[in-house]
Amino acid sequence: MKGRPLLPFAITAIIGILLMVALSFVGLDQRADREAGEEGDTGEEMVIDDPIVAGQELYTNSCVSCHGGNLEGGVGPALNALEGVYSAEEIVDIIHNGRGAMPAFSNLSDAEADAIAQYVLSQSQ
Ligand code: HEC
Repeated sequence: MKGRPLLPFAITAIIGILLMVALSFVGLDQRADREAGEEGDTGEEMVIDDPIVAGQELYTNSCVSCHGGNLEGGVGPALNALEGVYSAEEIVDIIHNGRGAMPAFSNLSDAEADAIAQYVLSQSQ
């Protein structure tokens, strides 16, 4: 019975050590991911091969919540009939500067905003 009270401590210590090792591997992994994704100093900017594909992804990240999954609108107006209403440049302008209740997206680069504009215009019905 003598050694008994130590057992919980030993278990706690072992779990603690395992946790530390596991977490440091997670940390290393994340650092590798960050370094791999880094280009220039933002580390966020995406490489745009196909503006429509990239635009759709960016739209999903930034615009879906207000303009709907099918551009049908919601909090914001529908964006499914903008062809002939706005040029790509005008949409880029709205994205960068916001408008009314719509926030400005200053974190999106010109190329990213343009990709979203291309995507939105490509979906006009
Ligand atoms: C927080 C909600 C919200 C988000 C997020 C949002 N919008 Fe908007 N958007 C609005 C609102 C509200 C309006 C109407 C603004 C006005 O004219 O007063 C609007 C208007 C627009 C218009 C003009 C539509 C028209 O018929 O005049 C475009 C184009 C547009 N948004 C594109 C986008 C794009 C692209 C994104 C993603 C980068 C985006 N919006 C993200 C709320 C949002």
